Amino acid sequence: MKTLFDETTINPMKLKNRIIRSATWEGLAGSDGHLTDRLFKVYETLAQGGVGLIITGGTYFTPDSTTLPGMPGIYSDSLIDDYRRFTNMVHGSGCPIIMQLAYSGKGGEMWTPASPTRNDIKLIVKAFGEGADRAKAAGFDGVQIHAAHGYFLSQFLDPQKNIRQDEYGGVIENRARIILEIYDEIRNKTGSDFNIFIKINGTDAGDEVAGFNSCRYTCLELASRGINAIEISGGADELKNCMNHPYPESIFRNYAARIAAEVKVPIILVGFNRTPAVMEEILNTSAIEYFSLSRPLLREPNLVNKWRNDSNSEAECISCNACFRTDGNMCVFV
Ligand SMILES: Cc1cc2nc3c(=O)[nH]c(=O)nc-3n(C[C@H](O)[C@H](O)[C@H](O)COP(=O)(O)O)c2cc1C
Repeated sequence: MKTLFDETTINPMKLKNRIIRSATWEGLAGSDGHLTDRLFKVYETLAQGGVGLIITGGTYFTPDSTTLPGMPGIYSDSLIDDYRRFTNMVHGSGCPIIMQLAYSGKGGEMWTPASPTRNDIKLIVKAFGEGADRAKAAGFDGVQIHAAHGYFLSQFLDPQKNIRQDEYGGVIENRARIILEIYDEIRNKTGSDFNIFIKINGTDAGDEVAGFNSCRYTCLELASRGINAIEISGGADELKNCMNHPYPESIFRNYAARIAAEVKVPIILVGFNRTPAVMEEILNTSAIEYFSLSRPLLREPNLVNKWRNDSNSEAECISCNACFRTDGNMCVFV
């Protein structure tokens, strides 16, 4: 019988349990993407709170591609020293850390698949590789490609949003191409012992079956190339309203379980994970291996330690989404 507190390894990162902090934009970086004392404090508290792995909030990696206020950046080698101090601090608490690389557009504009020229796409792919290379130099255990939640990369997979006529649009082999090129570029730059994760929607609200098939194709291709873990999420609207799901908790479990049954890659389930007993049941009745959380850790960064002491204790987060704030995301109840 597997438990949430099993120790595991992912290429060769050691996780002291199966609970992961999912990427969460804090809005606390300096205007030029530099880390701030407040951001250091947030991650120090999280690392001490017991999670098995931290995934940072989405980080931009070309100077002109910040889309949200207070997003951290890794667009220049001059930032590496600060991040090295940051990863040393987190590792000092026995917690590995992965940087989420996010691209949503440039000049403050949210891009759609129609926005970039083919040359822009080449530059974006290259920049993902450079961002990952800097993350490796700064001591991160890996990077996660953000391809979920209806943003730029996620839209490429969606046949309704991707109306490109070239080799990046049309059939799924084309719609997934940019993501696969990004993966290959990062792997070529960083080597086989560096972790590459992806966060992807199990489906998009538009057409559930087509959405799942796009996710499945992309995951199978990434698995055959050697991706180290896949985090299955869902559309942003579904997160705000989980009522349309068959389960009130761990709402994307069916998509994640179907992908987990087909790939030999660790699958992380995100979205309304709130109860250890529910997660352990999923752990023991599917091939899903990890569970990630965002909002509950904004309210209680110490939640995993609390669960380690008493697995029947309840998460206090009520999923009200009041934590989305422009002056720094934090729980309004803390
Ligand atoms: C304030 C806030 C910021 C978020 N920022 C990111 C982000 O930078 N990247 C990402 O992939 N998901 C982001 N998310 C989504 C979470 O990682 C997670 O997928 C979602 O909140 C569902 O998990 P939960 O029910 O445990 O909160 C964010 C969520 C919140 C509440």
